[in-house]
Amino acid sequence: MKRRDLLKHSALAMVSFSMARNAFALSDELPLTKETIDGTIILRANENPHGPSPLARKAMMAAVNSSNRYQWDTNGLLREKIGALTGHTKEYITLGSGSSELLGLVCLRASYLQGHVVASEPTFKLWMGASRKMGLATRLFPLTKSKHNDLDTLLASINEQTKLLYLCNPNNPTGTAHGKEAMENFIKAACQRTTVLLDEAYTDYEDTPSMAHLINSTPNLIIAKTFSKVYGMAGARVGYLLAQPEQIKALNELQAWANAGPSAVSMKGALAAMEDESFANFCKVENREARRIFCEGLQTLDIEFIPSVTSFVYFNSAGYPKPVAAYLQSKKIIGARSFEENSPWLRISIGTREEMKQVVAALQQGVV
Ligand SMILES: Cc1ncc(COP(=O)(O)O)c(C=O)c1O
Repeated sequence: MKRRDLLKHSALAMVSFSMARNAFALSDELPLTKETIDGTIILRANENPHGPSPLARKAMMAAVNSSNRYQWDTNGLLREKIGALTGHTKEYITLGSGSSELLGLVCLRASYLQGHVVASEPTFKLWMGASRKMGLATRLFPLTKSKHNDLDTLLASINEQTKLLYLCNPNNPTGTAHGKEAMENFIKAACQRTTVLLDEAYTDYEDTPSMAHLINSTPNLIIAKTFSKVYGMAGARVGYLLAQPEQIKALNELQAWANAGPSAVSMKGALAAMEDESFANFCKVENREARRIFCEGLQTLDIEFIPSVTSFVYFNSAGYPKPVAAYLQSKKIIGARSFEENSPWLRISIGTREEMKQVVAALQQGVV
């Protein structure tokens, strides 16, 4: 990305940022618990450093009192509210303990159809180990030079043995996304030939277009989303799938009990988080600003990076005089890591503005 574009982006971000920052400077009343006591900066799992929102935290604390009861009503209400975002009824939604549980569920179903899953390399692969153990082979296809999913190659690779195609847009770990038209064309073509599991964990950060509007006309499309990112609830574990009711029913039949993943406390938190739109907006602006600080720092060091629409950045550590991950770790900054074999490209999550300033300062210190 050109420096001029970055600056233009950031000027806009700064205006809304400074307005929102005062409103959400996390209140002393509800301080976030620090995961470490020694000041370590944790940038490893694309967690939101600001969330959950104060409203969600209050709702979760209150929900502890009713957690002696199973929460069928809350479960139905949350599915209704999620469905309402895209104009679907609750029959189109299933809940999980994070979207990871549901990615696993879709793969479990694909595995007993016997064949293979097609996906990009690198992409979000946490679920692949288990699906391989269940007998589903994986066929992985490299990204394009610009580190985008190679949609043409993925499409051409589908054959009768392809029981599932997994696509992460925006892609983790590269932070790249395809736009509306390219995605619509791809989804329509691919879904005629196999089931597509579209992971939209990061669409919210920069309004990457969701493909939810294709659900009604596309029986083979399953979309996964999560409350772990913009809503800052990774530890609370709430995710969901959006698909046609027949798909949802078939997936639920593989579970001992449908929608039982998230706890009463987590579901109440998710409901409150959805009401707290201004906090989610604050997190987006803050993430954009912290990402800009980091990317500008990389530019001052002549470190190549991929423009990101997410809460992480993929950068090329090849020219840096030290092994970056180990060096940053020695400075108590953990999380820079590789997702490609023998590759200098590393992913780092975006923390707060202050944290990213410290990362840049550490990298600058490392070259003198
Ligand atoms: C692309 C992608 N999908 C899904 C997940 C899983 O999220 P969760 O299980 O917390 O909902 C992650 C987590 O980092 C992710 O990066």
